[in-house]
Amino acid sequence: MKLSVFQPVQLRHANRLINHGPTVLVTSAHGGSQNVMAAAWSMPVEFEPPRIAIVIDKTTFTRELVEKSGVFGICIPGAAAVDLTYSAGRTSGRDHNKVKSLHIPVVAGPVTGVPLIEQDCSAWLECRHIPEKHTEDAYDTCFAEVVNAAADPAVFSGGRWQFNDGNKALHTIHHLGGGVFSSSGSCIQGKLLL
Ligand SMILES: Cc1cc2nc3c(=O)[nH]c(=O)nc-3n(C[C@H](O)[C@H](O)[C@H](O)COP(=O)(O)O)c2cc1C
Repeated sequence: MKLSVFQPVQLRHANRLINHGPTVLVTSAHGGSQNVMAAAWSMPVEFEPPRIAIVIDKTTFTRELVEKSGVFGICIPGAAAVDLTYSAGRTSGRDHNKVKSLHIPVVAGPVTGVPLIEQDCSAWLECRHIPEKHTEDAYDTCFAEVVNAAADPAVFSGGRWQFNDGNKALHTIHHLGGGVFSSSGSCIQGKLLL
């Protein structure tokens, strides 16, 4: 098994991992089942403790596993994982074990034990689901507290993404529809005008 190169990300910087709207992989497990699905809709919502919102359709197997276990992972695929991401979003873990059939190596989250993906991914966040009965009856949106995060320093260091020509395989991907994704491009430093 390849040793992890991931380094801890301070929780106050964890929001930056999804701030720019990457398509992510949501990982989950319960009662001997492991699963992974694609999610394009996630965002930070609170600073401290860091909390996020993510849309996990009530009909998905992922949602069932998250509600039963109370935890999930958000893994951030790089461009190298675009086929895996699209595939994880087009079939259900109810029909087959996606982790096995897509040959995805997983590691156990140090805090929650949730399966996490590092191969061809740039970062992960371990999340504890915050049950919100009044919203969850009506909406697919889930809220969660981020309790641990780590990233590959080749592409995220010093609390910031470092996209460059040398780490393109780890650039985040952004779903445009129909299986077409754009990958994060060059960085531009904004200057203060006032
Ligand atoms: C690129 C992409 C993005 C997606 N984004 C979301 C999303 O944000 N929320 C959601 O509930 N489903 C989303 N889906 C659909 C789920 O990934 C899909 O329903 C999946 O089959 C659920 O798997 P599961 O039943 O194994 O949990 C997306 C699918 C794709 C391909």
